[in-house]
Amino acid sequence: MISMEKTFHSPRPLAQVFSYLADLTNFELWDPGVHEVISLSPGPPVTGSRYMVMLAMGPRKVPVDYTLIKVDPAGTIVAKGSGANFTLLDHITLSGTSSGTTITWRLELTLASPSLEPLMRPFMHFTGSRGISGLKRTLGAIRPAPSKPSLPSILGDLMLLPGALSFTKMGFLQARRNFTALDTSMDGKTVVITGATSGLGRSAAASLAALGATLVIIGRDPEKGAQTVANLTQETGNSQIRFVTADLTSVAQTVSVARTLRQELPRVDVLINNAGALFNERKVTHEGYERSFALLLLSPFALTTELLPSLKASPRARIINVTSGGMYTQPIRLDDLQYERGRYDGPKAYARAKRGLLMITETLAALEPGITCNAMHPGWANTPGVALSLPKFYGIMAPLLRTPAMGADTIVWLAASPQAREVSGKLWLDRTPHITAIFPRTQHTARQREQLWTVLQSELSRF
Ligand SMILES: NC(=O)c1ccc[n+]([C@@H]2O[C@H](COP(=O)([O-])OP(=O)(O)OC[C@H]3O[C@@H](n4cnc5c(N)ncnc54)[C@H](OP(=O)(O)O)[C@@H]3O)[C@@H](O)[C@H]2O)c1
Repeated sequence: MISMEKTFHSPRPLAQVFSYLADLTNFELWDPGVHEVISLSPGPPVTGSRYMVMLAMGPRKVPVDYTLIKVDPAGTIVAKGSGANFTLLDHITLSGTSSGTTITWRLELTLASPSLEPLMRPFMHFTGSRGISGLKRTLGAIRPAPSKPSLPSILGDLMLLPGALSFTKMGFLQARRNFTALDTSMDGKTVVITGATSGLGRSAAASLAALGATLVIIGRDPEKGAQTVANLTQETGNSQIRFVTADLTSVAQTVSVARTLRQELPRVDVLINNAGALFNERKVTHEGYERSFALLLLSPFALTTELLPSLKASPRARIINVTSGGMYTQPIRLDDLQYERGRYDGPKAYARAKRGLLMITETLAALEPGITCNAMHPGWANTPGVALSLPKFYGIMAPLLRTPAMGADTIVWLAASPQAREVSGKLWLDRTPHITAIFPRTQHTARQREQLWTVLQSELSRF
């Protein structure tokens, strides 16, 4: 057996450090030697919880079956991993001090062929150093969220290839090197989220439920909704989750559900407008709206403005609008918001509506300084929506697509992180603000923002 031991002092309280480290899915956030972790046991981490940890050995991925063998909130976490010809024992001891928590991490490796152990010693040391650097970053001092795009991010966005690469899984893995652990709980917070029966919304809902939020999911399919609620409750142990039905291409249904929720929920802390779809064929709803305009722009506008009284009752509410990097390709078309002119193009209609969603985010941030209002885009993530609406893109790009959790990470961070609460009116990717236009012809103006707001208000006044 060979071993290594490292110590690090985190400025964060013991309970926070404990809950972060006991959840082995966070391995992939702090240990660069870990490619991916899949939780195999529902509910919060307890003794006996199992995880499949994929170690990254250069290009090779090595599966290790991990089990938590001791989880004591007083400050001990012991996990045992079994690989094909080795076992790993992680022993983490935490001791709380007035200035934070001292973390001692001991790692023991036992190989099936002990003669190879001398060869592995330098590797163990290297793994330990990288792991402890990861812990220092994720559990180190809390930094404020950036309030404007950095020069490298602007240059990256402007150069099309690096910009596009940042949308992929590699872009996320690169960005993740700067992430810190979420230093928060969502206990007592009410989150309303649309489209959480699938893809990104489903993943964000699971993370927020695991943080303790009370969740209200708005979706169109009651059966799928009930199943989602049951699954989320089983996975996270959170029973404060419910589903309400509304087809969000219908403004009447959106307004009706919002007015009901406004009565039932005197306070809403977070609203996440996530539901979306890309329509390859132009169709008009029975209310007379082109579907992309209705679902991606008018409906989030309606839900947000109708829920404002409950949002204003929160000490610092947050609104998160899920837009798309596709909006970089299109300007707003105030003269043709419903794509009545020319030959309909689904991705263009989608991109224009998503730019509109960004514009209303900026307007709302200016109108409501007491609410943190941001837009984000998830990059390119492997979700049923992408597979269905963009089959050719999906066929080529599938290996490079982000997991839903990677795409949803910034939604969760914007909803939960105390630092994210302080910055409003921005467009985010991977927890950093980004520019809102790459091509001058797509840039929108303050005047256009005002005009769009007026048009949407006027449409909403019909209901
Ligand atoms: N995945 C990506 O790469 C990507 C990239 C850029 C932006 N986005 C945006 O991310 C958001 C989530 O997309 P996703 O990729 O996770 O897609 P998804 O897997 O298809 O999920 C979309 C969600 O929206 C719901 N929804 C769709 N139409 C609805 C309607 N008329 N009424 C109520 N709910 C409706 C769906 O409900 P059902 O379960 O009933 O279908 C589902 O829960 C969307 O706004 C999308 O535009 C995604």
